[in-house]
Amino acid sequence: MDIKFESKRTLTRILDGLDLGGMSQPEQGVFINRLNEQFPRLFALLIEIYGQRYDFFYYLQQLTQTLANGFSKRSNVQKAKDQARLADPHWYQDENMLGMACYVDLFAGDLNGLQQRIPYLVETGITYLHLMPLYDSPKGDSDGGYAVSDYRKVNCELGNNQDLENLSKALAEAGISLVLDFVFNHTSDEHPWALAAKAGELKYQEFYYMFDDKRVPDEYEQHLREIFPQVRRGNFSWNNDSNKWVWTTFNNFQWDLNYTNPAVFNAITDEMLYLANLGCEALRLDALAFIWKEMGTNCENQDKAHKLIQAFNSCLQIAAPAVVFKSEAIVHPDEVLKYIDKQECQLSYNPLLMALIWNTLATRDTYLLTESMQKSFEISPDCAWVNYVRCHDDIGWTFDDAVAGQQGVNGFDHRLFLNQFYTGRFEGSFSTGVAFAENPSNGDCRVCGSLASLAGLEQGLQKNNDTLIDHAIARILMVHSIILSIGGIPLIYSGDELALLNDYSYEQDDSKKHDERWVQRIAVTDADIQASKKIDTPQNRVTSGLQKRIGLRKRHSVFGQAATRIIDTHQSALFAYQRLAKDGSRLLAVCNFSEHKQRVSSITVGLGNGVVWHDLLSQVRVSPAPQELELAPYQVMWLLNAQPV
Ligand code: GLC
Ligand code: GLC
Repeated sequence: MDIKFESKRTLTRILDGLDLGGMSQPEQGVFINRLNEQFPRLFALLIEIYGQRYDFFYYLQQLTQTLANGFSKRSNVQKAKDQARLADPHWYQDENMLGMACYVDLFAGDLNGLQQRIPYLVETGITYLHLMPLYDSPKGDSDGGYAVSDYRKVNCELGNNQDLENLSKALAEAGISLVLDFVFNHTSDEHPWALAAKAGELKYQEFYYMFDDKRVPDEYEQHLREIFPQVRRGNFSWNNDSNKWVWTTFNNFQWDLNYTNPAVFNAITDEMLYLANLGCEALRLDALAFIWKEMGTNCENQDKAHKLIQAFNSCLQIAAPAVVFKSEAIVHPDEVLKYIDKQECQLSYNPLLMALIWNTLATRDTYLLTESMQKSFEISPDCAWVNYVRCHDDIGWTFDDAVAGQQGVNGFDHRLFLNQFYTGRFEGSFSTGVAFAENPSNGDCRVCGSLASLAGLEQGLQKNNDTLIDHAIARILMVHSIILSIGGIPLIYSGDELALLNDYSYEQDDSKKHDERWVQRIAVTDADIQASKKIDTPQNRVTSGLQKRIGLRKRHSVFGQAATRIIDTHQSALFAYQRLAKDGSRLLAVCNFSEHKQRVSSITVGLGNGVVWHDLLSQVRVSPAPQELELAPYQVMWLLNAQPV
């Protein structure tokens, strides 16, 4: 088949019957231009996924109409944003960027409360705000909102659609990009599609994976992981209403959507454009690794999953190009990288850096971090990492066993050690974490806990031990210094900037007690914010230390668009990297991951040559470069080869 020719012919046929009624003449021009540009790619992708179906053309036609409708519903402000972003596609690489992720209710009660907190966000320097799912979802356990019953209706406990619209506008005015979840691997079992499927409507049963008996599920099951083995074994749940087994990768009330059905792709595209038209500038692709199932595989990271995401990306380029995708692939590092591309996900969580920061804090040995970052940090210059240390989920130890093996570290054993260390079961550990999703079959688990508790502050305060407290604070500032400077968007998990400790109250709540991730989903009260302003408390030392680092990031272009080079320090406790900006400015970051003094030769880390270096953090001038740099316990240096501003 001559795909170019067929794509052109198909588009001509579709345009014939397309209703562009909602658009002015110039708008039609813009839309058709984008369609002409994107259609060949979209067509080629969808042919690969759905081309074998006799009704392929029907779905393609319907999809194009959905795109036209989505485009025409964009407000003028949003359309202006589309143009602006197309002209400046690398906006997310700017040094001004600083992200925060929060739950609306925990951070501010509801959407209106959140609007009141915008000044706090602005004061903190936030320019990117990820609101955890705020859509209608089942009462009680809804997996923190990740079981969506209606993408177009705000959860009534948080407010209403008008409140969201107001908030979206207010955030835009404050220069904060709104980031929303696109929970597209599954819906809740209360979504109208699921309700219709339960009632026996075949059309909607085809929206999910439903089976009369366990034969096929058992066959799939042989190769699947279990995500929440603490609540339910396996990946399928029995549904009494329909008398069928349903594919449920996560909880039994989260029904996986069936993307072999083009009707699902079209319906979800429609929901996606609705979210885009709320004014968000990024969509977080929740659980994207799981969207395509293939018998005989682990049904993660399948080739067609990538094709589908690229097709969604292409739809956005046509209807709402201001919106970018953020990948949430918490999988093997090599697989994480495959989602990152201008034509797939422009942004991606960096779970490898996250996990290895915690690994290195435990071992005080930077080998695995350095090797892994040398192998996996570099991504397309069009894209950006979203670097984080904590989030609402557990920590999974997603490093590459082959890289660990080179140092004689056995991946399985090492993960056991890390779990022991962070749940405080390892003697000498500073950490107060909680085990999550313990698998009764193999003893595997993951780790939960707030940043401050995992980093040792909870233990230090409990023991009233100044040294432990000092070390914990230094760790918290060090790990933030890394996400602020290594390249990409730093993402702070709300409450971490205030050094909030674990909240164990979930143990008393029937809808939460089986899910230890709630230990780090902590309310941020006005009192917490006030307390952080009280000079010299541990909270204040964290908050003000962080403020200083954020301020420095925003003042120097080397923290924005610049290349990152990870350096071998040949000192096991030291991690170092250089950032090289186009304007010639260079930053050398050196971090001491141990509670002991460390020295490193200046030549090794790339100082010297008579250049004047300033440590932005201590304001010490390092010139001419001494033979050795000396770092205090947990000290970080940000050495800039230019005059400080
Ligand atoms: C994502 C979310 C997690 C949720 C899961 C299922 O991984 O981050 O909180 O449980 O998807 O939606
Ligand atoms: C697994 C999944 C990830 C999800 C997490 C929730 O790690 O890969 O997508 O966020 O479970 O606990």
